Amino acid sequence: MDTDSPDELLSEFRERRLGVWGVLQVTAGTGLAVYGMWAGILMPGFRKVPLKLQVPYLPASRAQVRNVMTLLHGRSGGVADLGSGDGRIVLEAYKTGFSPAIGYELNPWLVRLANFHAWRAGYSGKVFYRREDLWKVDLSGCKNVTVFLAPSVLTLLQEKLLAELPDDALVVAGRFPFRDWTPFRVEGEGVDRAWAYNMQALRQHIPGEDKNSLQS
Ligand SMILES: C[S@@+](CC[C@H](N)C(=O)[O-])C[C@H]1O[C@@H](n2cnc3c(N)ncnc32)[C@H](O)[C@@H]1O
Repeated sequence: MDTDSPDELLSEFRERRLGVWGVLQVTAGTGLAVYGMWAGILMPGFRKVPLKLQVPYLPASRAQVRNVMTLLHGRSGGVADLGSGDGRIVLEAYKTGFSPAIGYELNPWLVRLANFHAWRAGYSGKVFYRREDLWKVDLSGCKNVTVFLAPSVLTLLQEKLLAELPDDALVVAGRFPFRDWTPFRVEGEGVDRAWAYNMQALRQHIPGEDKNSLQS
């Protein structure tokens, strides 16, 4: 039986030289493992989405969810979360009376996880998670939209929301605001902050443009 003490093992390990080839192998292996994690777990389903539109998964904090719900308070009808992750916003929205509550999410693992959370909470079949690209979803029937996406993506999403949402729609953005839009309410502080936007008010503040010109 090998009786090397931990000190002996450590000094043996220190004395070994990896060499350039060894370092290259370790680096390549680590790179591949990270890429595998990224492609296989965090970003599957994103192959057809341009790189600049890819947003990785980061769940909303409890305070963020609470702030989003506060801004939705008093609203009714359905809610759509664009990039719904593990479904926490959709589930919370349904619990507070929004129906249909739908999440659009490209990552199939997250869609499964969201369905599992809904099932575990007793809301299976009541909330819906669709594996769809948010850029291809027709939003013309949505009255309440929630988003938690990267700032660069929000800039492009503005155009889609302005072109498709009805005048009486409300958009709530968590963590990052829409840079060019003026919110009518803000809730919370720091990374948990959320911003509410009224579509009609936004359209009235775009000089020289109206709903029809934006849709054409
Ligand atoms: C920052 S996470 C927010 C998750 C969730 N809304 C929340 O607040 O916890 C953004 C999510 O959007 C999803 N996503 C990014 N681009 C998407 C796209 N084009 N279509 C559908 N989902 C997308 C990502 O997979 C990720 O789960």
